[in-house]
Amino acid sequence: MALSSVIKVLLIEDNLAEARLLNEVLKGATRQEFQLIHAKRLQDALSKLEDQIFDIILLDLTLPDSQGLDSLSPIIVKTPHLPIVVLTNMNDEELALEAVRKGAQDYLVKRHITLDTLVRSICYGIERKQMEERLREANQALEKRVEERTIQLLKAQELNQLKSEFVSMLSHDFRNPLNTILLSSGLLEDSRDQLTKEQQVYYFQMIRQAVQDMNQLLSEVLLLGKADAGKLKANFEPIDIKGFCQQIIASLNLSLENSHQINLEFQGNFDEELWDSKLLWHILHNLLNNAIKYSPKGGKIDVKIIQEENATVFKIKDQGIGISETAQKHLFEPFYRADNISNISGTGLGLAIVRKCVEAYKGNVLVESQLGQGTTFTVILPRQQPLTIKIEKSREQLSS
Ligand SMILES: Nc1ncnc2c1ncn2[C@@H]1O[C@H](COP(=O)(O)OP(=O)(O)OP(=O)(O)O)[C@@H](O)[C@H]1O
Ligand SMILES: [Mg+2]
Repeated sequence: MALSSVIKVLLIEDNLAEARLLNEVLKGATRQEFQLIHAKRLQDALSKLEDQIFDIILLDLTLPDSQGLDSLSPIIVKTPHLPIVVLTNMNDEELALEAVRKGAQDYLVKRHITLDTLVRSICYGIERKQMEERLREANQALEKRVEERTIQLLKAQELNQLKSEFVSMLSHDFRNPLNTILLSSGLLEDSRDQLTKEQQVYYFQMIRQAVQDMNQLLSEVLLLGKADAGKLKANFEPIDIKGFCQQIIASLNLSLENSHQINLEFQGNFDEELWDSKLLWHILHNLLNNAIKYSPKGGKIDVKIIQEENATVFKIKDQGIGISETAQKHLFEPFYRADNISNISGTGLGLAIVRKCVEAYKGNVLVESQLGQGTTFTVILPRQQPLTIKIEKSREQLSS
């Protein structure tokens, strides 16, 4: 950076004669113009620094309101970017050196000051300070980059760990049905003659169920992968929502042989509403499946679907084993399973999928639960209506 055309110098010096002398010396400069502003006391200097801009400070270390190095720090605090040249007497050079160590750019022994030494010290002080500032800025930028890079690395490490946990959980969950297939097919192959017809059917069914489980697991993992890649997008269309919900319940009832009493209730008008049937299926199927799985046979499950002004609210309430407060914090993480599930089977992916689907819907999912009392999951999905209805509504609002 070049020096300004007129260098504005703040001289802090209580001795008027010396101040005048320095002013005269600087007037003799030919290659560079200087403007000297004089302050007799530190306080006076500090207030000048508040409302004027200077290029450099010449500081006498013996002032009436501040002695020695004490003058330095209030100035540095007020104007950390301004260079300071300290003026000393013959016998306090040691003090001047200490001032340089504490942040002054240079020092001049008053009696040895000549035009040359003064101009050189001022220009050199300004240049050096500018260089220091550039270095400091570069250093700060570097530190910031190091910090950002460290955060990135930590995130990558965390992600890697999550990935390897995911893979090991997945391998474990695949191994179970594979073992079932291996065992059942081995039995059928080696001991078919000793098995009754019913036993043979049973092992075939085990194989079929294991294949279905693996297939389901694969689709769930694929769905989560799609959601993580940001490819899970809502796609709205008109559907018969009441029939749709009844069908999900009917299919669950079929596979669970009507083990639970499920009440379905709708409140509000659902005509002309648009839905993403795929996302909704995953949400309701998983929540209902959990409500059934984690409550005793014969338990009552209430499903309420309420139309509010801007959102549809789904409430699924069971009277099952409940979820502890600690477990509630982790429920939506892939593979997480609470520790009160005893031997109820599952992979821990259902709620992770629910969350991703609700996110794709730009909605919200909440849980309220008490151990041993039951659980209520609430899903809030923003309403999707055809454009014509929205326009009509805003017209009505405008006219009323
Ligand atoms: N209605 C509920 N009542 C009690 N606990 C529940 C309920 N819903 C979920 N949980 C707890 O949350 C955990 C995670 O549920 P999630 O549906 O993600 O997995 P899962 O049911 O174990 O397996 P799956 O992947 O087959 O659904 C469950 O293991 C269970 O501990
Ligand atoms: Mg589940």
